[in-house]
Amino acid sequence: MNLLFLGDVVSQCGCEFVRKKLPAYKRFAGVDLCIANAENSAKGNGVTPQSAQFLLSSGVDFLTTGNHAFRRRECYDYFDESDTILRPCNYPAGAPGQGVGVIDMGYVRVGVVNLMGTMYLDALDNPFHAVERALRELDDCRIVLVDFHAEATSEKRAMGFFLDGKVSVVVGTHTHVQTSDDCVLPGGTGYITDLGMCGAVQSVLGVKKELVIEKFRSQLPARFDTEETGPCAIEGCLFDIDEKTGRCRSAQRIRLT
Ligand SMILES: [Fe+2]
Ligand SMILES: [Fe+2]
Repeated sequence: MNLLFLGDVVSQCGCEFVRKKLPAYKRFAGVDLCIANAENSAKGNGVTPQSAQFLLSSGVDFLTTGNHAFRRRECYDYFDESDTILRPCNYPAGAPGQGVGVIDMGYVRVGVVNLMGTMYLDALDNPFHAVERALRELDDCRIVLVDFHAEATSEKRAMGFFLDGKVSVVVGTHTHVQTSDDCVLPGGTGYITDLGMCGAVQSVLGVKKELVIEKFRSQLPARFDTEETGPCAIEGCLFDIDEKTGRCRSAQRIRLT
């Protein structure tokens, strides 16, 4: 099974570029399942029902999120009602939506876990314990995919090795800069520390570069607007997973411009 996992889709230009490029790439690469992190897909950040639906009608099959999951109140009911979007599973009980999901592909059930790191992010439940609970919920799924939305590369690599041999794929999201360590870990788990971003290339993580420079120079609070012009790129990773064993055969990062 060919899985394409896309990094954080940022704002309108990122969504529109995905819609423009994804269908042809899926045919070219023989993609069976496409998942994208949608936590920044709405204009102005966060995710809205409209931005989620836009991606789901553009060739993305399933959505994960992260620390911006609950930025837009209009998405709270959508998180509760939809079975194609997750928020991190280590939020406190009572948070809208689910952190663990199942995609029924017919020939195989694919479990998905959305998880958030706690280094330099909100103090949620310890992700290493939370993921163990999540995997117990998915013990009937031969293929399990984990989106670990985290800031620290050390926390993400540690999670990759912790889950090596227990799940099919661990991807990192959140930092919006693609890493070059795409690989299959020794136990058969596909891994990359960060998938990267789908959005404006001439930006700082999708935000207008001038605003970010000014914030660093002045050290004063600043309003961040997303960059909506200029060239875009799609970044992510393509994994070939053996659906009989759940082991990953290959991992290859991609960048479409
Ligand atoms: Fe993000
Ligand atoms: Fe994030």
